[in-house]
Amino acid sequence: MAIQEKIKELMDLREKARLGGGEKRIEAQHKKGKLTARERIEALLDEGSFEEFDMFVSHRTHDFGLDKQSFLSDGVVTGYGTIDGRLVYVFSQDFTVFGGSLSEMFAQKICKVMDKAMKVGAPVIGINDSGGARIQEGVKSLAGYADIFQRNIMASGVIPQISAIFGPCAGGAVYSPALTDFTIMSKNTSYMFVTGPKVVKTVTGETVTDEELGGAMVHGSKSGVTHFVAEDEQEGVLLIRKLLSYLPQNNLEDPPLALCDDPIDRLDDSLNDIIPESANKPYDIKDVIYAITDYSEFMEVQRHYAPNIITGFARFNGMSVGIVANQPNYLAGVLDINSSRKAARFVRFCDAFNIPIVTLVDVPGFLPGTAQEYGGIILHGAKLLFAYGEATVPKVTVILRKAYGGAYDVMGSKHLRGDINYAWPTAEIAVMGPRGAVEVLNQKEIAAIENPDERNRFVAQKEEEYRKKFANPYVAAKYGYIDDVIEPRNTRFRIIRALQSLATKKDVNPPKKHSNIPL
Ligand code: HXC
Repeated sequence: MAIQEKIKELMDLREKARLGGGEKRIEAQHKKGKLTARERIEALLDEGSFEEFDMFVSHRTHDFGLDKQSFLSDGVVTGYGTIDGRLVYVFSQDFTVFGGSLSEMFAQKICKVMDKAMKVGAPVIGINDSGGARIQEGVKSLAGYADIFQRNIMASGVIPQISAIFGPCAGGAVYSPALTDFTIMSKNTSYMFVTGPKVVKTVTGETVTDEELGGAMVHGSKSGVTHFVAEDEQEGVLLIRKLLSYLPQNNLEDPPLALCDDPIDRLDDSLNDIIPESANKPYDIKDVIYAITDYSEFMEVQRHYAPNIITGFARFNGMSVGIVANQPNYLAGVLDINSSRKAARFVRFCDAFNIPIVTLVDVPGFLPGTAQEYGGIILHGAKLLFAYGEATVPKVTVILRKAYGGAYDVMGSKHLRGDINYAWPTAEIAVMGPRGAVEVLNQKEIAAIENPDERNRFVAQKEEEYRKKFANPYVAAKYGYIDDVIEPRNTRFRIIRALQSLATKKDVNPPKKHSNIPL
């Protein structure tokens, strides 16, 4: 065969591979409002940067007539490319080939890119759109899943792993995304569940749709399985690109430093007035976040889940940080099971990838009640405590208002190796709020007062005494638990200076196989 013919053969094969399961199935994919596997990669990566591997791979199964049905690439597109010029490895499941179902060779292709990413220390992005295990391949498919899980586990804390769910993701297939660092789901076109609506109906009698059982908003707000809910796939890939801009390539590198011409000493007078006169009045902690970060930018993680705590990425003078902040606007910013789990995982991610943690505190304590106790708030709260105490990255904490009880300790306190701890003059650092304290300390005197007006006056007077004595930052500052009491409008500048001073921080934990976080 002449070289021209050989090249033509190559081009024809490539063309065939690019067509996946064929024009009709591509059309069906588009009709569902979904892009194809290759279109998704194109949208995700820098233009022209994609280098594909294993285009000519096909399955090696003969059962169920599969010997007569074979597609080049075998249902997953894999390779590497760049995002903002930085290397990433990708795999994108192709629903047009056997419904994106996972075969032995399909799994091998994914494992190949994961292994390469680990060798060079680059993030892996997986785009999921699959009918699960390829039924015709039986246990070979299950083995393939487990091979991927094992790699997800080994890569955890070494390279960032991001999963996009842009179609079905059901059965054991959900566990690979669950093992990765961040999951993004597209609204209306994606769903995740361990067992689908039919099995649910049989086992529990419940009638639910795919969307009700495992749609993007369900996992964004109820289960917390997904970190981001995208309006559509285009927004989903943009979210991935933005997310990566805050992250280092691997655990041995620092996050990229962005150019910043937002003045570091920009004062924000509105912060001096943001705390309401009444201690029980809420305000939006996000207003504080936007006021202090570079260009008022904040990429919120798990926005719809446990909104009583806010987590997300921002920059201070170009430095990437993770922000954890109680949200007084929702349940008074109380710590409960879900918010503890949400923040603990975020803190651990930041620590694993050398991202400093800035904590903004306004927390009335842990949520009381049987629901919380039966649900194990003791263990879940301990997760957050553990995560902060274990973290060795720079930790800067600002107490804005309430820091009561155990929640004071948990939220990045000095005692859990907080590096620089500031408080606003409005801070109230105490064992509990004035109301609770007076009820405990003065219960006999209160009970002895028969006249209700007199009783209320007495309680109010005692609360005021308590507030004056304890509900301020100066008792904690007296013991050095607070490094300085700062003017609110100065917060941006003080945080930046603190982070700059901590840039070369080194802290280590004792050698061990691994810790035993209260899971
Ligand atoms: C082989 C599959 C497949 C699968 C879909 N297809 N799922 N082929 N193995 N698991 C094929 C279909 O035969 C069809 O082929 C094409 O993909 C598109 O499927 P449709 O059903 O036409 O598409 P749609 O109506 O959009 O429905 C998508 C779907 C449905 C909801 C995913 O296909 C479905 O329920 N599939 C089975 C899901 C499942 O039970 N998987 C196993 C789960 S257990 P043609 O040739 O017509 O295009 C599991 C265990 C993992 O995954 C364990 C890991 C530890």
